[in-house]
Amino acid sequence: MNDDGSRYFAHGQGSSAPEIPPLMPRPVQHADTAAAVSPPLPFHRPAVEELHAADPPQPEQPELAAEQPAQREEPELLLGPTGRPVPDLPEPRPIGIHGNARVIALCNQKGGVGKTTTTINLGAALAEYGRKVLLVDFDPQGSLSVGLGRNPHDLELSIYNVLMQREVTIDDVIVPSGVPGMDLLPSNIDLAAAEVQLVQEVAREQTLQRVLQPAISRYDVILIDCQPSLGLLTVNALTASDGVIVPLECEYFALRGVALLKTTIDKVTERLNPTLHIDGVLGTMFDGRTLHGREVMQRLVEAWGDTVFHTVIRRTVKFSDSTVAGEPITSYAATSAGADAYRQLAKEVLARCPDA
Ligand SMILES: Nc1ncnc2c1ncn2[C@@H]1O[C@H](COP(=O)(O)OP(=O)(O)O)[C@@H](O)[C@H]1O
Ligand SMILES: [Mg+2]
Repeated sequence: MNDDGSRYFAHGQGSSAPEIPPLMPRPVQHADTAAAVSPPLPFHRPAVEELHAADPPQPEQPELAAEQPAQREEPELLLGPTGRPVPDLPEPRPIGIHGNARVIALCNQKGGVGKTTTTINLGAALAEYGRKVLLVDFDPQGSLSVGLGRNPHDLELSIYNVLMQREVTIDDVIVPSGVPGMDLLPSNIDLAAAEVQLVQEVAREQTLQRVLQPAISRYDVILIDCQPSLGLLTVNALTASDGVIVPLECEYFALRGVALLKTTIDKVTERLNPTLHIDGVLGTMFDGRTLHGREVMQRLVEAWGDTVFHTVIRRTVKFSDSTVAGEPITSYAATSAGADAYRQLAKEVLARCPDA
């Protein structure tokens, strides 16, 4: 904008003298008192309104009018916790025939950010919407299996066996999760050995993709709970996936390391899986009552834009409680805000990924 020019015109000073400040009072000269010494008057800086009080009425100025959109009638927008208007998400459509699963990896090399919690509860919420869901525990710690009430030490077969032994099929290992419509491919510490052994395999990055292949035609969504590292197991998960969801704890330090994760995702996209897509970044353990929480959320949206889900998961002890109970929050505390948040996330995922 031609700031100076338009302001001077607006004050009716004329274009010939733009260097004269507008409406500065001229010193009054009285012939008989000019020489008299008078005490200095206190300096008075005129307020903007005072300056404009003497302005003649201005003709319509289209340029200035365009600068004031606030005067137009705007419908009031409801801002959500991410600082953006909340979209009206459609109710997920029921599906008749299951299959052609969308595979989504839950990935962040930082531990304790809500990967496992999101895998369990997003999966359970998707199952409530009639999707057939398979959860893949791809962390040797087996937290996903524990969170669904399984003791990893008691497993006869785990994902390790499917990965490393050709004679073991995925169906030999899949177990019901306790949630109708949702199954589990469990894991335990054996998976740590797979990471070492896979290094010598041919097509080592595609091993998980190969073993998941038979399940694609039977499920609508397959969620892979990654371990907190960017090693070979995570690369396998990203290679096997159509999409990635990145849970991020709403803390300042959570934003560190995300660049490295993005580089890994980019490398996998470039070299192994050209159709890999970041389905969304999910703010977890959000506390909207603190300035800190809101600032981190603002920075998340600045960095990732509309990739950030509108749904955020707030901090509540109910999640730890439900893990101890070995079931999703959607059944452990079905009417809680946490359960509703994951149902909302499920709707958002289904709206973003129409193939799921
Ligand atoms: N929104 C939340 N509010 C409070 N605690 C949470 C929330 N999400 C997860 N937790 C707890 O934080 C811990 C780490 O979560 P988890 O999902 O296991 O993270 P990750 O899989 O990324 O390591 C768990 O004890 C879990 O119960
Ligand atoms: Mg975990």
